[in-house]
Amino acid sequence: MALTGSTALVTGANSGLGRAVATALAKDGARVLLLCRSAERGAEARTAIVQEAGHDRVELLVCDLASQADIRAAAAEVHARTEALHLLVNNAGTAFAERGLTVDGIERTLAVDHLGPFLLTNLLLDLLQAGAGQGRGARIVNVGTKIDTAMDFSDLSWERRPYRMMAAYGEAKLGNIHFTRELARRLRGTGVTVNCVFPGVFLSNLGGTDGAQNWALKLFAKTLGWALPKPERAAERVLYLLTAADVAGVSGEYFGDRKRIRAPDQANDPAANAELWRLSAELVGLEAREA
Ligand SMILES: NC(=O)c1ccc[n+]([C@@H]2O[C@H](COP(=O)([O-])OP(=O)(O)OC[C@H]3O[C@@H](n4cnc5c(N)ncnc54)[C@H](OP(=O)(O)O)[C@@H]3O)[C@@H](O)[C@H]2O)c1
Repeated sequence: MALTGSTALVTGANSGLGRAVATALAKDGARVLLLCRSAERGAEARTAIVQEAGHDRVELLVCDLASQADIRAAAAEVHARTEALHLLVNNAGTAFAERGLTVDGIERTLAVDHLGPFLLTNLLLDLLQAGAGQGRGARIVNVGTKIDTAMDFSDLSWERRPYRMMAAYGEAKLGNIHFTRELARRLRGTGVTVNCVFPGVFLSNLGGTDGAQNWALKLFAKTLGWALPKPERAAERVLYLLTAADVAGVSGEYFGDRKRIRAPDQANDPAANAELWRLSAELVGLEAREA
């Protein structure tokens, strides 16, 4: 029960990797806030995790990361429920077969996969710094993917380019690495670290709930899914970054299986990291003092 006394928040905690991470953290004694977009799927996950963990310090927060108003409401709810956070896992992610806009008028892959964690994390930084101040530090892990691409900063919402699902997904997930790098720079000296992880390829419901998953992915999951690792295996990479002593002071890095891996060139450019931060802050309406 090494995590007794710690409070964690995991996004996308009802399915796949997020659920495996949330379960492991709760089993290790942490109080875990499950951020899920469906009250029903979230409640089902909560019941199962409480049973597996053997305690009921497992709470549900309903929030659709495609809505900035929802994210702000969820962040306010977290502030109402706790004075400190020690672990934050930005895991929720998805892909869409067709281009579509969120209620905020932003292309939805960018909104859910990059701007969602960007805004949520910024709104929770004070709680993470309070957690770090309690002595054991605080850690953020952003779940990315393995990609070799560059974000088109002049067309983040895919208005002037033909939309392609995997290209949009790749660019949005590259945003996670840019965000990790710039946030680490801003958090230097605070006791809060942030790293990005490629969890490997594993069996999950990725992109499935929206009916947005394309037929090729569905066919692949149906026929060859059995050969893929389970989410619990992928969770080990996240848990390592959240809990291992040897990465306690490491921040701003992009990891695979317990080792740093190469990030796309654009993510290694501090000016590009800062530029995406500036554009993202504008898109989510972060006040200058918040950003
Ligand atoms: N599976 C892989 O091979 C693989 C490889 C590389 C990276 N990843 C990354 O791993 C992470 C977890 O994915 P997974 O494979 O475990 O997929 P998953 O089983 O589909 O889980 C994704 C989670 O994100 C949630 N989510 C999606 N859209 C959301 C929104 N608008 N607001 C709030 N929550 C939302 C989902 O909620 P619902 O259940 O309500 O849809 C679900 O809980 C993602 O960031 C993904 O990009 C996965």
